[in-house]
Amino acid sequence: MCGIFGYVGNKNAVDIILNGLTNLEYRGYDSAGIATISDGSLQIRKSIGKLNNLYKNIKKYPLSYTNIGIGHTRWATHGKPYKKNAHPHVDSKKNIAIVHNGIIENNVELRKEFAEKGYHFVSETDSEVIIPLIKENYRDGIANTLEYILPLIKGSYAIGIICRFEDSKIVCTKKDIPLIIGIGENENFISSDIYALLMYTRNLIFLEDGDIAEISKNKILIKDSNGIEKKLNIKNIKWKFNKISKTNYKHFMIKEIFEQPFSVLNTITNITYKNTKNEICIKEKIFFNQEFIKNIKNIYVVACGTSYYAGLISKFWFEHFTNIPTIVDIASEFRYREPILNNKTLVIVISQSGETADTIAALKLANDKNCKTVAICNVVGSSISIYAKHTIYTCCGIEIGVASTKAFTSQLVVLFTFALNYAYKIDTVKYSTLVTFLKELSEIPLKIKQCLKNNNFIKKLAKKFLYYKNFLFLGRYLNYPVALEGALKLKEVSYIHAEGCATGEIKHGTIALIDKNVPVIVIAIKDKVYKKTISNIEEIKARGAIVITIATECDYEIKNKSDYVIYIPKVNELLTPILTVIPTQLLAYYIANLLKYDVDKPRNLAKAVTVE
Ligand code: F6R
Repeated sequence: MCGIFGYVGNKNAVDIILNGLTNLEYRGYDSAGIATISDGSLQIRKSIGKLNNLYKNIKKYPLSYTNIGIGHTRWATHGKPYKKNAHPHVDSKKNIAIVHNGIIENNVELRKEFAEKGYHFVSETDSEVIIPLIKENYRDGIANTLEYILPLIKGSYAIGIICRFEDSKIVCTKKDIPLIIGIGENENFISSDIYALLMYTRNLIFLEDGDIAEISKNKILIKDSNGIEKKLNIKNIKWKFNKISKTNYKHFMIKEIFEQPFSVLNTITNITYKNTKNEICIKEKIFFNQEFIKNIKNIYVVACGTSYYAGLISKFWFEHFTNIPTIVDIASEFRYREPILNNKTLVIVISQSGETADTIAALKLANDKNCKTVAICNVVGSSISIYAKHTIYTCCGIEIGVASTKAFTSQLVVLFTFALNYAYKIDTVKYSTLVTFLKELSEIPLKIKQCLKNNNFIKKLAKKFLYYKNFLFLGRYLNYPVALEGALKLKEVSYIHAEGCATGEIKHGTIALIDKNVPVIVIAIKDKVYKKTISNIEEIKARGAIVITIATECDYEIKNKSDYVIYIPKVNELLTPILTVIPTQLLAYYIANLLKYDVDKPRNLAKAVTVE
């Protein structure tokens, strides 16, 4: 939530910051703003709505040429998406400008304190309290002042500051929210994520909680939370980075759906290799050593949203392969109840972004309780990858569409191989079983390709069902979480109400919803609950439902039971969720696209949920 980008160097800061914000816009798009210093004066431009409005604003009211500035793209938490609430925030004399990502939890108390002292707040944001905090406590430069005020701030933050009296540097700090410094030649950057930096530099410093950095074009000084100067820990990012582009696709979401044969293949390739007998094996160093999983008595899988649904599917795999009881929990629930955690508990957190606040809190709780912690994550260097004792990357490439698609299928690949390899390590799965399943997994990318061939048919279905107000998604067994995910995807991009339900559970209440106005998408593949699913379909058909089934290829009988059938290729039933989810993604995309919504940036959402 919220993206921060800053530049100091020899080039046109405005262009570079706008470009940085473009790459960070997925983090929030309620409003955007930029502050620069030119000839000793602060210049500010802010616009509500998407970044495009800021571009237009700056075109109409150009900023003077400058080499330093900070920018922000906002996902509103405190205060509506009005211009006055957009960042950067400035003081009345226009001496300092700040951008903030996170939540200042004691902002009410601080606002009251400063209001009583006569400070006039312009915005409704929590962030603006940073301004009087700096002004009231100013001592020998912004960095020193920041060192003094940070203990007074409760909550999470990434903060960037420029000051017209220190007009050649950006001062920044962070706690529980990412902020990365990019090091260039005679130029330096700050950014909320790596990707916005990689087109400029591969030399990065990942700020740690409590660090305060002073960044000029040729110098970076970082002090830790005790005020001690740190040696610069520069990481050189080697991995391949493709320019962020929609190529010929209309939206990132559809591009990312179609990328899945490759993203899944990449994820598999990162985890496995072929041995001399041409068998597919696990790369040991990707997972963990025997010691790490010794004596584990229970497993928790914790995540939010789509990642949580991937976790729900993994429960079947962990319990099936390892016989270890596995609990899957929503991170925001897990952190506030009293989970039974100790050094014999394995806690797996799943997060595409690696920055989800609730998941980070759950991970920290597990670390505090001495659990073995593993993160499954897509972003190298993200907070979750830093806090977890072990991280396995999904390697599906940056996901820009706010609705998660390719990350989900890659998470499933990692979780499946994780469970399988774990079971092999503790002798609940034989080598031959391991190899057979890995072989089957290696065929998945081609099968996803086949699923994508339903594209035109699903587009036609979308046209038919465009104006329905409610949808029901049903699935049993491993495909129950896919039903939940299918409903979530439709809701978030098309704003149509959809509910996911366990097929066998609907007769306990949800069946009351069924009539001809509620299309029902039923996952009815040939697995061990197929016959039960067919009976459930009969029950809903008898009540007038329009039934769209997702079925196994060559299952011709199901045609008699459904109004429409979407076929997926045959695959071992344990692997079906990686395929059955594809039609649900396509349906959600096409409905939203036909309704002319901004599919990549659905209202009220943001890609990285860095607040509770
Ligand atoms: C839905 C979606 C969200 C995320 C959730 C967790 O399409 O994208 O539900 O899955 O916010 O995000 P990560 O995986 O980044 O922790």
